[in-house]
Amino acid sequence: MTGASTEESSKLWWTDAVVYQLYPRSFADSNGDGRGDLEGIRKHLDHLHAIGVNAIWLTPCFPSPQRDHGYDVADYFDIEPTYGSLDDFDRLVADAAQRSIRLLLDVVPNHCSSEHAWFQAALKAAPGSPERARYWFRDGKGPDGAEPPNNWRAIFGGPAWTRVTEADGTPGQWYLHAFTPWQPDFNWYCQDVVDYFDRMLRFWFDRGVEGFRVDAVPVLGKHPDLPDTPPAPPGLTDAQAWGRNIYGHFYETGHDVWKHWRTVIDDYERAHPGRHLVTISESYGKPEAVLAFLRGDEFHQSFAFDLMLITWLAAPMRKAISDSIDMLGPVGGTPAWTLNNHDTQRIVTRLGRLNSNDPAAFTGNNLVYVDAPIDLELGRRRARAAITLAAALPGALYLFQGEELGLEEYLDMPDAAREDPLFIRTNGKELGRDGCRVPLPWTSDATTSFGFSPVAVEPWLPQPQNWGDFSVEKEAADPQSMLSWYRILMAHRPLLSGDLVWVETGNPDCLAFERDGVLVVLNVGADAAALPAALVAGRTVILATQPDTTSQRLPSDTCVWLSTVH
Ligand code: NOJ
Repeated sequence: MTGASTEESSKLWWTDAVVYQLYPRSFADSNGDGRGDLEGIRKHLDHLHAIGVNAIWLTPCFPSPQRDHGYDVADYFDIEPTYGSLDDFDRLVADAAQRSIRLLLDVVPNHCSSEHAWFQAALKAAPGSPERARYWFRDGKGPDGAEPPNNWRAIFGGPAWTRVTEADGTPGQWYLHAFTPWQPDFNWYCQDVVDYFDRMLRFWFDRGVEGFRVDAVPVLGKHPDLPDTPPAPPGLTDAQAWGRNIYGHFYETGHDVWKHWRTVIDDYERAHPGRHLVTISESYGKPEAVLAFLRGDEFHQSFAFDLMLITWLAAPMRKAISDSIDMLGPVGGTPAWTLNNHDTQRIVTRLGRLNSNDPAAFTGNNLVYVDAPIDLELGRRRARAAITLAAALPGALYLFQGEELGLEEYLDMPDAAREDPLFIRTNGKELGRDGCRVPLPWTSDATTSFGFSPVAVEPWLPQPQNWGDFSVEKEAADPQSMLSWYRILMAHRPLLSGDLVWVETGNPDCLAFERDGVLVVLNVGADAAALPAALVAGRTVILATQPDTTSQRLPSDTCVWLSTVH
């Protein structure tokens, strides 16, 4: 395995790394409070090592009131007390390094928590003060300033503005928040903000962090005058309306921030030979707009979300793959493939939907689905094929915790248990993301939340009753399980390192390519596919997601890797 201690000579480690997105609150609870913590992660590092991951991306683990489960940061220089301490963090970095696993953190620069000391100071300070200049405070419209300063809608529902009460008790100014009122947006034209995040990046690099996933990248740049945006067409959700906000979404001045960060990072690398840091941008949007962040002087990588958001059909999948690769070619980049994350319904559920191969049912939005009956076994079969395809592609591969166990989305979670602000702020109109964030099952012992906690305690989100069937313990003992498959698959990944060359099979349900002579074929069709004799002659099966696969015949919803011609 490639690792932190044995640096590659030619390729930077992150270009083709396997990165495990770890949601600390739901990974493993070591102290019995029903919430995951850093010590829980440290105790289970061998699980990640056995999959062959090169790095962990920890979603925000800074002190936070958890109104958006860490994406509301109250202090960027410490660890959330329920997760542990800075000492625990240092121990985790060291133990991970022993297994050649690097640590990436999640930086949230668009907004902080309303509990952050700066925001609290801004609330107490007067309009026009330097404390308020770090955020977007504005007078309201209308005779008493009782209307929001502009027409922007918040991504999680409602207006993007909240009015404050001034120190003298009178109704006062408004502040901007792209997400919830508990997440005030920073004003990145303010030098204090720029300096603060420079310090933050260096602070964590000094502690051994090798990079950052950067949150909500297109949301950060804003027109300095915050004009009204042209009204969105009726019928869109507030999140979709934000996507049309021409002064608050993909606004050009955001690039100045990312260019500056790159100089900070490049300077740090120069001062620390041997360190190879990475920033990965979270930006959903049109390829050209996403590409703009990757021009060589901004981010190192950007997530390629297309495979996660696509219909189960060969032609659009092929197009998504070649678009991502072709787009990055000129800037020398490689995609960072992802099939799951903490904001999206789990793949088993998505691909188990009986309309998941119907273009008419495709919304392209990670949170909006055209509902249909779900066949979870079909979903698991397709998920196994999808990861086998994704693992064969050039670039990095980002996994989300629990996908290695084949977990499904917990759609039937009771409303009363749901905590996602998206669910709460839209009054349940949007189901939200709790269903993919359920605490992991480690054992089949239901009394300890399936080994999530060391004692009998309610986990922060409930688990489905059958969770034990998908526990690490059970799957590790089963050679046919999803976990065993992930281990086998990742161990085979180094076989493929060259460029991708598309191959024609003559079957519209099949997608096929070669890398280093190895042929990878995915059949998304309902029928088995006969592969052309000329193409497969002399090849043998390296691995296949269904047992009844041969080099000539590929069952439905199956992916195979075939050897070079012998
Ligand atoms: C994107 C994150 O992935 C999501 O979980 C979060 O709620 C928003 N950004 C706000 O930070």
